[in-house]
Amino acid sequence: MKFIETLALGALTLAISANGAPLASQDWALKKRNAASLTLPANCLKQNNIGVGWLPDDDNGYISIDTITNTTGPACFYGLYSHFGADLSVSNSDILGDKLSDVKNSGAIAVLSMMPFSVSLSGVTTEVAAQVALVVKEYTDQGITVLLRFAHEFNYYTTSGMFHGTSTDFKTAWINIYNAVKSNPKVKMFWSPNNTQNTGSLAEWWPGDDTVDVVGIDAYKTQSTDTFDSFYQEFYQAYSASKNLPFVIAETGTINDSYKAEWLKELASQSQSKYSNYVGFSWFEYNKPSEGDFRVVTGPIDYAKQVLTGMGNNKAASTKSYSTESASHSPTATVGGNQGAKSTAATSQTTTETPPNSTATALKSIKDSISSMQNALESIQSSIAKLESK
Ligand SMILES: *[C@@H]1O[C@H](CO)[C@@H](O)[C@H](O)[C@H]1NC(C)=O
Ligand SMILES: *[C@@H]1O[C@H](CO)[C@@H](O)[C@H](O)[C@H]1NC(C)=O
Ligand SMILES: *[C@@H]1O[C@H](CO)[C@@H](O)[C@H](O)[C@H]1NC(C)=O
Ligand SMILES: *[C@@H]1O[C@H](CO)[C@@H](O)[C@H](O)[C@H]1NC(C)=O
Repeated sequence: MKFIETLALGALTLAISANGAPLASQDWALKKRNAASLTLPANCLKQNNIGVGWLPDDDNGYISIDTITNTTGPACFYGLYSHFGADLSVSNSDILGDKLSDVKNSGAIAVLSMMPFSVSLSGVTTEVAAQVALVVKEYTDQGITVLLRFAHEFNYYTTSGMFHGTSTDFKTAWINIYNAVKSNPKVKMFWSPNNTQNTGSLAEWWPGDDTVDVVGIDAYKTQSTDTFDSFYQEFYQAYSASKNLPFVIAETGTINDSYKAEWLKELASQSQSKYSNYVGFSWFEYNKPSEGDFRVVTGPIDYAKQVLTGMGNNKAASTKSYSTESASHSPTATVGGNQGAKSTAATSQTTTETPPNSTATALKSIKDSISSMQNALESIQSSIAKLESK
């Protein structure tokens, strides 16, 4: 991958020297917002370059993501929920608690679903937004990348009574949150509506291209005709491809045992050329008595093991299977993370894997290199800013 890194470095040098001056911070904000801007952790579970993550069952008190990752190997995403009110502060936020160290130890990208619960959307003022930013900063101070999934499924929760307010209130709240976190380079604003067959209906909820870093849509398979294309293709075209934003599925799953393996496989085997901005997905690993049992790892049957060839039998094995990749070398480590794993995992499985498209893989690697260098530059710029402010 030396050639690709050299190429990326060359491109970056050109970008910086183009007008002889460092880019202004607004330019960096814009540069941060493109499909190459989200890099997966080097050692996490990937298949076909698609990152796999989990939402550990949190309904019955604290649970560590180890219950899943000791079987699967490291997660790419760790999804968790917080309900907050107007009095939100760092110390009383239920999103923190013991979870911070669990998220940190997992090495995953944190997908923080921060839900305005006992505060209306119009109550998410700049003051409340500043407190949300402080909570998030607790995470980023630990080196964790955060996808801030503020008021997710807004198109559904404003009708169910969970969130209060209109699409206009939502957009105002969103922009307040965005303004509060925009100077934090490790936070990405994640716009995440609920499944709808009417993509056009989402337009009134769009807060503006400059304020969104990552997009995705939640959808759960309930019938045989639900496919990756039927759920995501239209949304992907409208919000990811056309805006050049990374596409991440924050929540998905199924309670029907006859779909579990196939749905997991479908999520983890999409074409790199058709969905080139698709970064990964998180499975809703919950057993909810009121809705059903979504589990594919920690339930009675380990469906994930049948499907995800990159999975280790335990954490140690998985770490070993990724050891050919250097953790400090994210530009190339993002690519082909599952290759090393194949030799140790699931040799008896009958699943087939689409051969990687080498053009798409090379492009993704270049994009990842650029992204990683952008991050490095951002951190240099922030160090300079800190020194200047002293
Ligand atoms: C996962 O593995 C670690 C290291 O072996 C162990 O300390 C931890 O208790 C395990 N967690 C679970 C839930 O089994
Ligand atoms: C999301 O959308 C689906 C399909 O339109 C609907 O059945 C569901 O109730 C909505 N909300 C949640 C939380 O799933
Ligand atoms: C689960 O899926 C199978 C296959 O499509 C279907 O026959 C069955 O009715 C589904 N079960 C439930 C509870 O929906
Ligand atoms: C491979 O990926 C490139 C870039 O995304 C695309 O243009 C090309 O059509 C793909 N080729 C195949 C065979 O899928």
